Amino acid sequence: MQSLLNKKIVLGISGGIAAYKSAELARLLMQEGASVQVVMTEAAAQFITPVTMQALTGNPVYTNQWDARISNNMAHIELSRTADAILIAPASADLMAKLSLGLADDLLTTLCLARDCPLLLAPAMNLQMWQHPATVRSAERLRSDRVELLGPASGAQACGEVGMGRMLEPAEITEQLIAFFQKKVLEGKRVLITAGPTFEAIDPVRGITNRSSGKMGFAIARAALEAGAQVHLIAGPCELNTPLLATGKIQRTDVVSAKDMYEAVMASPNCDLFFGVAAVADWAIANPSKEKMKRQGKAIPEIQFAPNPDILLTMAQSAKKTKGKPNPYCVGFAAESTKLEEHADDKRKRKGIPLIVGNIGPDTFGSDLNQLLLIHERGSKKLAKAPKLQLARQLIQFVATQL
Ligand code: C5P
Repeated sequence: MQSLLNKKIVLGISGGIAAYKSAELARLLMQEGASVQVVMTEAAAQFITPVTMQALTGNPVYTNQWDARISNNMAHIELSRTADAILIAPASADLMAKLSLGLADDLLTTLCLARDCPLLLAPAMNLQMWQHPATVRSAERLRSDRVELLGPASGAQACGEVGMGRMLEPAEITEQLIAFFQKKVLEGKRVLITAGPTFEAIDPVRGITNRSSGKMGFAIARAALEAGAQVHLIAGPCELNTPLLATGKIQRTDVVSAKDMYEAVMASPNCDLFFGVAAVADWAIANPSKEKMKRQGKAIPEIQFAPNPDILLTMAQSAKKTKGKPNPYCVGFAAESTKLEEHADDKRKRKGIPLIVGNIGPDTFGSDLNQLLLIHERGSKKLAKAPKLQLARQLIQFVATQL
């Protein structure tokens, strides 16, 4: 799935050592379907050559305001008029200062001043430069001019110091640019999501679990963030990266058992929307052993089960009805082996929730693809087979219309 299909991006590069990562960034943007037009400052060309960027993007690279290749000699106007966004990575302290004052003394700054499209900057500089009051002022002015600042991150810097000012990684910048283009249908909403399996210990090395990779729940977290929400993701054991972590709009709590997950959900602040995506074990082990159980001849160990708390049911029962809608609006998930619609709708009614999402199997576990059946009070809607992120975006759009 290409999330930047048909988008025209002007990739601006200013003079900083992080410019070596701009080559990788251009590749990632193109992999997502964008066409990339590079504009570099003279200083940037000291760090990475225009030839490299031209070879990667397949487009001529512009560095000079007086470039005669643009027929009317107005590169600063021509290049921005066809762009969906200008993304500058790295954006140096000098470039940020110039843009914040509306200076336009080379092609890149003139292009930004003359633009009629959004501008996003990924700052990259030494930590002292980032903390300098002049840069703090530039960043504030740029934000009030509705320029998006992506990062910077904290960490090891090329100069050997450690701190705030590192450019975000190309993958994070790409993820944030994709998010920028999504509809902000959950702006200001707080979303709580459970994802992944739970693990119920039998002894310190053994346990039982459910088959769940967490991919669907994590995709819903990403889609909710893209839609402008603040997200709390409570995840059972799964090896997945937290989506859009660098935005600071997601909090992740890792848990192991269903009881841990229940406690984390109950301790989470009030939310507007709750997605119970986790495959929660129905039973915990009632008599887990503190030490590893040893094999004793042919004797079979006796394991007793105890019921786990139903997280979704508890959330649904605590939801207050305001203007006919429960608050939080609760969404459940169901994976059934037979009669999906019938069983899932039964479950929806039993849990007292307005919407349940059925996984149309059988190959949903661990896959990047899925098919969903949304079952609500007034009927059902099928979402055709697609990558989980695409389905998550469709689900978020649907839920936003129900709020
Ligand atoms: O009852 P069942 O496990 O099939 O229901 C599935 C839905 O309920 C999912 O949304 C799941 O996250 C949620 N659930 C829960 N707590 C449990 C069991 C299921 O939140 N103990």
